[in-house]
Amino acid sequence: MCGIVGYAGNQDAVPILIAGLARLEYRGYDSAGVAVLTRGGLKVHKAAGKIRQLESSLPKRLRGNLAIGHTRWATHGEPNDRNAHPHTDCSGRIALVHNGIIENAAELRAQLEAAGHVLRSDTDTEVLAHLIEAAGEEELDQAVRRALAAVQGTYGIAVVDERHPGRLIAARNGSPIVIGVGEREMFVASDVAALVRHTQQVVYLDDGEIASIDAGGFRVTTLDDRPAAKSTATVTWGQDAYERGTHAHFMLKEIMEQDEACERALRGRLDAQFGTAHLGGLNLTARDLLEIRRVKILGCGSAYYAGIAGAHMIEGLTRLPADAEPASEFRYRNPVIEKDTLYVAVSQSGETADTLAAVREVQRKGGRVLGVINVVGSTIARECGGGIYIHAGPEVSVASTKAFTSTLVAFALLALHLGRVRDLSPAQGKRLVDALQKLPVQIREVLHTAEQIRVVAKRIARFTNAFFIGRAACYPVALEGAQKLKEISYIHAEAYPASELKHGPLALISPETPTVIVLPHDELYEKSLSSLEEIRARRGPIIAVTHPGDERIPTRADAILQVPQSEPALDPILLTVPLQLLAYYSALELGRDIDQPRNLAKSVTVE
Ligand code: F6R
Repeated sequence: MCGIVGYAGNQDAVPILIAGLARLEYRGYDSAGVAVLTRGGLKVHKAAGKIRQLESSLPKRLRGNLAIGHTRWATHGEPNDRNAHPHTDCSGRIALVHNGIIENAAELRAQLEAAGHVLRSDTDTEVLAHLIEAAGEEELDQAVRRALAAVQGTYGIAVVDERHPGRLIAARNGSPIVIGVGEREMFVASDVAALVRHTQQVVYLDDGEIASIDAGGFRVTTLDDRPAAKSTATVTWGQDAYERGTHAHFMLKEIMEQDEACERALRGRLDAQFGTAHLGGLNLTARDLLEIRRVKILGCGSAYYAGIAGAHMIEGLTRLPADAEPASEFRYRNPVIEKDTLYVAVSQSGETADTLAAVREVQRKGGRVLGVINVVGSTIARECGGGIYIHAGPEVSVASTKAFTSTLVAFALLALHLGRVRDLSPAQGKRLVDALQKLPVQIREVLHTAEQIRVVAKRIARFTNAFFIGRAACYPVALEGAQKLKEISYIHAEAYPASELKHGPLALISPETPTVIVLPHDELYEKSLSSLEEIRARRGPIIAVTHPGDERIPTRADAILQVPQSEPALDPILLTVPLQLLAYYSALELGRDIDQPRNLAKSVTVE
């Protein structure tokens, strides 16, 4: 949420910043700005709208070797030029960009105004620029340190001051900051996506750290001015992984990559001989696993839905009670933490504020949390200290797709591993290993049906409301299908367990409201068919997402999306893929801004 880029070196910083901001646009896209230290002093340019609006409004001769930039997702103050970052102090010599929320901004603003500061925006961020000015310190890092001591909330910041040409200060508390190490040039960003075209060598700041950076290097200290030892990491993914390539949208690219993502999630983890999975990162012995009495999965949005599907897999295969809960609710309800419960935090970004807070709540009370995470080295991954990386690769589209299915694959591995320590037989384990090995090819088969799905999507796009229904482990598939459709096409979509339809929502079924029914050939199949009949009796259009082979379906459904059959525990993975494509093509038909849907942004690092 929001993107930060900074540069200190010998090249012209402006094109580097614009390219970096374009890479981070998925993190926020309502306004953007840059502050460049030019020969004539600090120059700030901002524009409401996307990066291209900013770029086209920049003066041709804007040049400098030190600069910071920002792309915004509004929290305080509407998205306009005035509220866009960077923000400056009264004198206009200090400029600052910020991700996160300053919680005591109102109080600080009142104090600053009483002391004569004139604040020009409605943002919480601007107070920080004025606090740095008010600190009256000679050295910029000391001034920033003093300002931050007065602040409550979360931040990732980058600061420049025209009295310190060549110096850039960055600090972090709860919002990521990464330093990119180049040859006689240094970069700062909130996300490695902005850096990979320049360097693969990065240093992640931890909470409570400040970095003082110039073209020649960096020095990291803590907020209370003690030196912090930092090591350099190499970024796993190259520049290509962050490119859209020949696909029209990142979302389509990421949907189409799911076969490879699944292969990566499985690589080196299956053991056909013993019918189990090896998960080196769990940091739990077989004895630890035997002591587990319950599994509780925490995540937000699609990560939470993946957690519900994961809980079904775990409970089904291990016979341990398992459930999922939105991390955003869990963190505030003073949850009881049990020592024999295994908590699992799910997050693509590894930075979601609510999920991170839930992890800390569990750990503070002595509980044990594993992470199921995509971004290597992210905050949640580091704080969990153990878990499963899903290795889906960079996910740029705001709507999560490959991270969802790869998370389900990770849960299948966890369920298999846990199950085999408990009661799952070697034969059952081997069947699952076999089915997992086939998954990438089966996903590819579904991806090859994209054109058929596109035809169905054209019909869906004509409606303003839709239902998604499924039972048991396919209820989270329905939830995810509805989530995808609403977030990128803006068609109102609701998901229900198929069994719940008759308890209320059936009242809304009509020829104007299509229902997408997730219909695997499992033990509830005939029961789900009864739900289908109830909808048909009310002339509701039906799209069945199902396996081939039942001749009754073509006469009962208006459209059929087919996926190959797998082991029942794995069916939700394959059944999700057509729903992603259905949402994508519906949004395409409606001309929506698919990769950057309105009001949303990738990685929700605020509450
Ligand atoms: C939906 C979507 C969101 C995220 C949620 C959690 O397509 O992307 O619902 O799933 O914000 O994000 P992570 O997984 O990064 O914690």
